[in-house]
Amino acid sequence: MKALEGVRVLDMTHVQSGPSCTQLLAWFGADVIKVERPGNGDATRHQLRDIPDVDSLYFTMLNHNKRSLTLDTKSEQGKALFARLLEISDVLTENFAPGALDRMGFSWERIQALNPRLIYASVKGFGPGPYERFKVYENIAQCAGGGASTTGFDDGPPTVSGAQIGDSGTGLHLALGIVTALYHRERTGRGQRIACAMQDAVLNLCRVKLRDQQRLGHGPLTEYPQYPYGTFGDATPRAGNASGGGQPGSVLKCKGWEEDPDAYVYVIAQASAFDGLARVVGRADWLEDPEWNTPGARLAKLDQVFDAIERWTLTRTKFEVMETLTPLKVPCGPVLSMRELAEDPALRATATIVEVDHPARGRHLSVGCPIKLSDSPVEVTRSPLLGEHTEEILTGLLGLNEAAVAAAKADGAI
Ligand SMILES: CC(C)(COP(=O)(O)OP(=O)(O)OC[C@H]1O[C@@H](n2cnc3c(N)ncnc32)[C@H](O)[C@@H]1OP(=O)(O)O)[C@@H](O)C(=O)NCCC(=O)NCCS
Repeated sequence: MKALEGVRVLDMTHVQSGPSCTQLLAWFGADVIKVERPGNGDATRHQLRDIPDVDSLYFTMLNHNKRSLTLDTKSEQGKALFARLLEISDVLTENFAPGALDRMGFSWERIQALNPRLIYASVKGFGPGPYERFKVYENIAQCAGGGASTTGFDDGPPTVSGAQIGDSGTGLHLALGIVTALYHRERTGRGQRIACAMQDAVLNLCRVKLRDQQRLGHGPLTEYPQYPYGTFGDATPRAGNASGGGQPGSVLKCKGWEEDPDAYVYVIAQASAFDGLARVVGRADWLEDPEWNTPGARLAKLDQVFDAIERWTLTRTKFEVMETLTPLKVPCGPVLSMRELAEDPALRATATIVEVDHPARGRHLSVGCPIKLSDSPVEVTRSPLLGEHTEEILTGLLGLNEAAVAAAKADGAI
């Protein structure tokens, strides 16, 4: 049995933040019914298309294991059908611009009246406050949540991350909110409202940078590259590739970096493994020298430490560096490109990278479920075509007969 089998999710989400959440629920076995506007559906079906007239990878990779129902929830008939679906669902999810669901006539009060057990989960850009009416996309969330200000190099502009911490990061938070509310409902019988703001989710993921903001009041951030030569302002600065924890680390060039933009390795010069690291890079002399042989002595000279390590990594490939340093217990990791990840046999073996078939697109790669449950295995299936399950849902779940379905179609409601 799948962990969330029997849970029905009415999924009005679109773009990335909401769909990334409901995709997780679908992977865990929930029946996720994606409610889409007739005609166009989720805008991402059409965005960044690589094959004409075929659902984009943007859409197919965020909507696995769901069913698609086309329903105009602004038409009278559409609203009536939507209300009936709300009555028999466990969860409603949406990430419209603020107020959209109220404008359709589905306020939280109305939803509760229709189904007091329903959990209503929303993503918005911002929580209550001066920005709450704003529309928000990924990079805006990264900028407003502290991610951009603290990412990049000291002498460069604020930088957004390739990891979609605003969208998929918020989706993860929302999914946790939903399963928590389902657990709560088991004991109280009541549904509840869940709100996740993208700004809040990004800030939560930037927690260590707020830590550093407070540390700044007590002196320089000694693990930052600005120390000891540069100056610190009144806000957490960008730390380049310095480690965010208490252990000094850096991205270092490896053999072939001139041609390969990903010929780099991350090395952490952890105190407990420093002896082996110093020896292997040819600096055994550091171990006898009080100027170098304690973490405190090295702190102001980390640039020189990493320069010496890099002189060694430059003579080896990133994988050879790993082979040598791992037995010495030196924490290190290769910079892997998307091409390397796509081809990685271990990621394929664990179904973190999967191949999925699609009737219009054929076989394509996707990221499978990154959360592995031993008793609720995930089978990744393809995303639905627009409205693929409309009739099945209306007849199977709501008991409409053929004539009623035809009438809804003629009315433009489905
Ligand atoms: C992403 C976002 C910026 C897109 O904005 P947008 O393209 O203007 O889309 P909206 O969400 O406002 O929805 C557009 C309209 O479609 C309508 N609509 C959506 N599904 C519908 C359906 N099935 N039937 C009828 N109308 C529908 C909505 O009701 C809304 O109408 P309204 O503005 O008249 O109330 C906005 O949804 C947003 O800020 N969402 C919250 C944060 C978020 O999730 N951001 C995206 C991260 S990937």
